[in-house]
Amino acid sequence: MGYEEQVNKIENIVNSPIKKFKSDELKAIAERYEKNHPKSKAAFERAKKIIPGGVEHNLAFNWPFPLESKKVWDCYMQTIDDIILTDYLMNGGPIILGHNYKPHTEKVVEVIEKYGSCHGITHEYEYMAAEQLQKHFPSCEKIRWLQSGTEADMLALRIARVYTGKNHIIKFGGHYHGWSDQLVYDLHVPGTMRMESHGIPRNIYKYITSVPPNDIDALRKEFKEKRRVAAVILEPMGGESGAIPVRPGFNKEVEELCRENDALLISDEVVCAFRLDMGGGQAYFGYDPDISVFGKIVGHGYPSAAAIGGRADIIDTVAAGVGGGSKRAYSGGTLAANPLTCAAAYWAIKFVEETNATKIAGKAATRLSNGFNEIFEKYNLPWFSYNYNATVHFHTSCVFGIDITDPTQAPSIKGRKEFMEKMGAALIDQELISVAGSRFYTCIQHTDEIIDETLQKMDIICQKIE
Ligand SMILES: Cc1ncc(COP(=O)(O)O)c(C=O)c1O
Repeated sequence: MGYEEQVNKIENIVNSPIKKFKSDELKAIAERYEKNHPKSKAAFERAKKIIPGGVEHNLAFNWPFPLESKKVWDCYMQTIDDIILTDYLMNGGPIILGHNYKPHTEKVVEVIEKYGSCHGITHEYEYMAAEQLQKHFPSCEKIRWLQSGTEADMLALRIARVYTGKNHIIKFGGHYHGWSDQLVYDLHVPGTMRMESHGIPRNIYKYITSVPPNDIDALRKEFKEKRRVAAVILEPMGGESGAIPVRPGFNKEVEELCRENDALLISDEVVCAFRLDMGGGQAYFGYDPDISVFGKIVGHGYPSAAAIGGRADIIDTVAAGVGGGSKRAYSGGTLAANPLTCAAAYWAIKFVEETNATKIAGKAATRLSNGFNEIFEKYNLPWFSYNYNATVHFHTSCVFGIDITDPTQAPSIKGRKEFMEKMGAALIDQELISVAGSRFYTCIQHTDEIIDETLQKMDIICQKIE
C-alpha cells in the first residue's frame, strides 16, 4: 500500500464515526475476560497497593484490567491463569528470534556462569559487540554502550550540542524518543506539544521545537527561524514506529536540509535496527545520519541494552571525560557495557544474521498485513493495515492520525483510544496479544500456519463489529 493511500485511509477513518463492537458481543468479551483471568485480576489488585497504577508498562493492556505473564517462549506468552496467547507484543519490539531463543539464552547464561555479570572495567564483549553492530551500521565509526533508548537519545542531543556549539534541536510531531525531560514533547499525537510534560519546567523547551511529520517546508521554515540548530532527530519509519507513516524520500530531504544548515541528523533506530532492515532505517530508506541511537533490540530483550554510534569525530566527544579533550559530552553508567548485555548484543546480532531473521519475520508480517486487509474489505470496514518489514500496523480508530487543531476531530481522541482498548480485549479473547490493540511485531517463530490462525481470529473479531 502506497503512502498516498495510507494517508487517504487515515483521513477517512478520523473523519468518520468510530466503529463499535455490537453491544452483546462486547459484553460477552468483557465477561469472558473476567472469567478467564481471575488470577491476573487478583494480581492487579495486589500490585495496585505497591506499584503506582498497578502496572509499569505503558504498552500493557489496561481494559478491563491488565494481565500478568507467567512465562514466554517462541511466539507465545502464558498468563498466570494459564491462558496461552500468541504473542505479537514481542516485548515492544526487541524480540525477533522468538522469546528465550535457546542458542541465545545459552550464550548469555554461559557469560554469567563463566565470567560474572558485571566487572566495572572493559571486557572483550564490549568491543566485540560494537564491531558486530558497526558491520551493519557503517555510519557508526565509533560506538558507546548505554542502558536504555531514553538515555541514548538524551546523550545524542548533548553530543550534537557539544560538537556543533549550537543549542537548538528540532523533532517531529508524534515521534517518540523516550521520556527524558527535553523529549517529552509533542509525542504520540502530533500537535500535543507540552500536554504530557507535567513536572517539566517550561524553560526546558527553550531549545526544542517540533514540526509536523512529513512536512519538509515546515522544517525549512523552522531552520530559518531558529538559525542555531544543532540537530534534527527522527524516527525513521515515522512516529510511533510508523503508526504515522513516513512519506517516501522524506528522511533524505531532512538529511539534505541538515547539511545545508550545518546541523547534525540523529536517526533513532531503537525499533528499526534489525527489525526493519539489518542496517536499520538508514539502510532501508537510504540516508546518512551523523548519530544513530540504538535501544532494546540490540540486546534482544536483555536488560541494560542501548548504544549510540556515529562519525568518529562526533562520538569521540564522549571520550573527553577519559581522554581530557576540550569538547566534553559527559556521560556515564555503572552498568553500561557490562559483559552480560554486550554478550547478549553480540550473539543476538550473530543469530539474527545466521537465521535471516529480519527477512523471515518481515515475510510473516507481510502475510499478516495482506490478510488483515482482505478481511477488512470482506466486512466492508474502513480499517486497513500495512507493514514496515517486521512491524505491522492496523488502523481501526487511528488515534495517532487525529489533527488536534481540528475541532471536529480533537474531541474524539478519548473515544478512539477507548476503542483501541476494546480491540485489545477482543484480541485477548481470541488468545492474541498485540501492542496497544493496533500493532503486531513478528518474529521468526510466527510460521505461516500461526499467521493464518491469527487471520481466522481477526475474521471472528470483525464479525463482532456493528
Ligand atoms: C523510537 C524509540 N526511541 C526511544 C525509545 C525509548 O527507549 P527505552 O524504552 O529503552 O528508554 C523507544 C521506546 O519504545 C522508541 O520506540
